[in-house]
Amino acid sequence: MDSARLPGHHGYSGYRGIPAFRQAVARYYQRRFGVVLDPEREVLPLIGSKEGIVNLGLAYLDKGDVALVPDVSYPPYSMGAYLAGAEVCWMPVTQESGYLPDVSSIPVEVARRSKILWVNYPHNPTGATAELSFYAEVVSFCREHDILLASDNPYVDVTYDGYQAPSVLQVPGAMDCAVEFMSFSKTYNMGGWRLGAAVGNSAVLKTLLQVKSNVDSGHFRAVYDAGVTAVETTSQQWIEERNRVYQRRRDYVLEILPEIGLRADKPKGSLYVWAQVVEGDGSFYADQALSQAFVAVAPGEIYGPGGKQYVRLSVAVPDERLKQALDRLRHWYVNR
Ligand SMILES: Cc1ncc(COP(=O)(O)O)c(C=O)c1O
Repeated sequence: MDSARLPGHHGYSGYRGIPAFRQAVARYYQRRFGVVLDPEREVLPLIGSKEGIVNLGLAYLDKGDVALVPDVSYPPYSMGAYLAGAEVCWMPVTQESGYLPDVSSIPVEVARRSKILWVNYPHNPTGATAELSFYAEVVSFCREHDILLASDNPYVDVTYDGYQAPSVLQVPGAMDCAVEFMSFSKTYNMGGWRLGAAVGNSAVLKTLLQVKSNVDSGHFRAVYDAGVTAVETTSQQWIEERNRVYQRRRDYVLEILPEIGLRADKPKGSLYVWAQVVEGDGSFYADQALSQAFVAVAPGEIYGPGGKQYVRLSVAVPDERLKQALDRLRHWYVNR
């Protein structure tokens, strides 16, 4: 509030934000992952990570290029590629493989045309997680084929059952080929503030900045100041208590699933339960749930063609509302 009241804070704050914000993000990476970042060259503030994700597509992709995108995944990875006129090559991710793509199965001629490869763990929509050994394999593949590795990591601090998620930048050599997206929306419950950062390879961030500086003019100074306060003062204890609330809701959703015609694995992170539809497909289920139980669940197909048999449920709703929604789904499903 104090920052918002200062008249001097109402002007443009610069394309690269304020140094204090970049330094706070660098300190977070050092503290949380042991990754050393140069705040001047290896941290770029974003107006929410979604902005940076789509602008990275515009910065790196042209007609004839390919973006390697997990099937299923957060839609802006593919949409950023389509907006740039590029092609999307879906990398299958399945329950059997822990929703991790097998990069060794990507044909060489596809790898040759590929400019970006997207990963996101903890994963939206499946809640799957990845270990450093997986990241190491992807880093090596991207270095071999000269592909930009984009790791979208907004749920890194939204994890359950004591699990701690890593950063791709912990892998030796990742800085040569990778950038990671950090979001203040999930870790600090600041979705409406629109604040994020891209960190990692400095040449990539410079190119992203070139696009961004023609599109936006940085954020409101008070938002950067709020971000510094969030990242510097939020305790691990607060994060763990908040995660216990989501975890309790996750467990409640999992308990009810068999009664509403769905089945799912227990996710170790993210805000979602990725549930397979027992009868029919995900779009039919979502349509019926909305029109008959007045409950919105996301049809799996919007995350890629591989999501056809699934719906995504969110635990980012208050307990009472979640219970009401599940009660309605149960009533609808039993009487359908
Ligand atoms: C995987 C993933 N990446 C990025 C975002 C966007 O986050 P932000 O609010 O920082 O734009 C979301 C939001 O739902 C998400 O699920």
